[in-house]
Amino acid sequence: MSNYHIKHLEEYYQVYRKSVRNPEAFWEEIAEEHFVWRKRWDTVLSWDFKKPEIKWFEGAKLNITENCLDRHLPTRGEKTAIIFEPNNPEEEALHITYRQLHERVCRMANVLLDHGVKKGDRVCIYLPMIPELSVALLACARIGAIHSVVFAGFSSHALSTRINDSDCKIVLTSDGSFRGNKAIDLKGIVDKALEACPGVANVLVVNRTGSDIHMEPTRDKWLQPLLDEAYADCVAEIMDAEDPLFILYTSGSTGTPKGMVHTTAGYMVYTAYTFKNVFQYTENDVYWCTADIGWITGHSYIVYGPLANGATTLMFEGVPSYPDFGRFWEVVEKHKVNQFYTAPTAIRALAKENLEYVEKYDLSSLKVLGSVGEPINEEAWHWYNNNVGKKNSPIVDTWWQTETGGIMITPIPYVTPTTPTYATLPFIGIQPALMDENAKEVKGNQVEGRLCVKFPWPSIARTIWGNHDRYRDTYFSAYENMYFTGDGALRDAVGYYRITGRVDDVIIVSGHNLGTAPIEDAINEHPAVAESAIVGFPHDVKGNALYGYVILKETGESRDRDNLRKEINQQITEHVGPIAKLDKIQFVNGLPKTRSGKIMRRILRKIASNDTSNLGDTSTLLNPEIVQEIMDNSL
Ligand code: WT7
Repeated sequence: MSNYHIKHLEEYYQVYRKSVRNPEAFWEEIAEEHFVWRKRWDTVLSWDFKKPEIKWFEGAKLNITENCLDRHLPTRGEKTAIIFEPNNPEEEALHITYRQLHERVCRMANVLLDHGVKKGDRVCIYLPMIPELSVALLACARIGAIHSVVFAGFSSHALSTRINDSDCKIVLTSDGSFRGNKAIDLKGIVDKALEACPGVANVLVVNRTGSDIHMEPTRDKWLQPLLDEAYADCVAEIMDAEDPLFILYTSGSTGTPKGMVHTTAGYMVYTAYTFKNVFQYTENDVYWCTADIGWITGHSYIVYGPLANGATTLMFEGVPSYPDFGRFWEVVEKHKVNQFYTAPTAIRALAKENLEYVEKYDLSSLKVLGSVGEPINEEAWHWYNNNVGKKNSPIVDTWWQTETGGIMITPIPYVTPTTPTYATLPFIGIQPALMDENAKEVKGNQVEGRLCVKFPWPSIARTIWGNHDRYRDTYFSAYENMYFTGDGALRDAVGYYRITGRVDDVIIVSGHNLGTAPIEDAINEHPAVAESAIVGFPHDVKGNALYGYVILKETGESRDRDNLRKEINQQITEHVGPIAKLDKIQFVNGLPKTRSGKIMRRILRKIASNDTSNLGDTSTLLNPEIVQEIMDNSL
């Protein structure tokens, strides 16, 4: 029996039991048999959720790029590592072999070294979905630099905050990016961001759109000529198992974005192992995850997980709606995609369009369909299953988070019988727990509670960059000796989990995790605004959309409301990014607050969702009369 590739339900249960009874022995075996190490570990695991401190494979030495690239060269050198499908279908797709990818990574690593980047330095990557993005991640990993990828849809303000938080000295970007029929001026956004980032000494620019951009003489350089001149091999830096691999920012319910820190060995082992099983990847399959590498899904399941398995991973630059709504299915047919991994919001958007867009294409290559980022509703699940999978491809509804690094609760296709809207069973090694209001674990089946994890898994984030206290407070203080996810969940009669959604103020819009604080900050910076509160409300494509309650200053009272709404959304676009724009803005005279001054979002959420039959206890409010007024004027 190979514990690395699970093929039957019995085997799942057997391996699961083994992984829980003796996690150290289990992960040691996986690590030993499926990866290359420069030195073996001394200790498989040491952990303390109180401090919190978690270490996997301590003492081991390795480089993750030797696992993702070098070790494949003798057997898979001419195999395609990355298929690049451009935004414009008329532009030719690229097939980059493992040998070519190795060379490109080495060249870029040498360019970074030439610019003084050393082990442990932070490198900000702000690039569209082009091959250079994957190459940049791996080039950092090659030399032990810590990459911090910022999704190229974020605004200059969001970018500068992230650059400064982790003190990046260098930024990799491109002149622009193509998305559908739009070209976006990425370099202009970087220029604006860097006005607030005195620490950045170099900007290396990929030529993608050929647009006319400003190059700051001492700071900015075109990347391609440097790559052409660079040496095509680069010795891998030997890293400790617990050396940071990357920082990736995620929103919290309050405060600034959190720079989640992932380390090398545990992350590698867990993402590779989950990739193999959750997608049942077999040699020569073509795997496609439609996420952007700017999110954790792309880090773990476009780059590291697939490449560590020697897989062929497809990178798509475009959007599902360009040149028309058949684009995804055209790409599936063209590249004979076997595993397809996307978000419910994309499925819902495509399900609204004519079925011909799907039916036109030959999707018979598909074997596994994945879903990630938010709960998948029953309707979307059936549409995906009927029209894309033709009831022949199991759907894996994968629950996980930026913080967990890899997939945590998921069916294993062809192994776990699926149920719509259920993420089903914990993955190997994962020990979930549901907690009640009294912080007690709810045991047994047919129960509901707050979702926690009792025992560390190899790819759990190790800290928040520069703020370990916040890491402890956010994830380890709600329940003793537990990692708290922020989600609610239920466990049904057969032990399947269904994620019911966030129990904090994080709002998931189109699968993007948006914290309320940065958006409210952006609104409040508008000169006419006194105060604001945003909440989510159900939306048939985005899952949730944003509803803003805004109190105007006296000076704003006479202004045209529709213009103000536009300006507020413009303000949000500039500070956070267009993904955070509000669908509805209601101007109010006050916000429901507790006596301690905390906004009662629970009430605002109910009003925004038109669910006002039972507003719950409002007696603790400082200003209960405002509730009726807000309800009377709700949009
Ligand atoms: C939050 C994490 C994991 C990569 C993308 C999101 C929600 C994620 C599911 C799912 C229900 C899900 C949770 C989670 N979520 N996947 N399959 N079913 N909810 O990463 O931005 O860190 O967001 O996304 O609420 O806590 P993220």
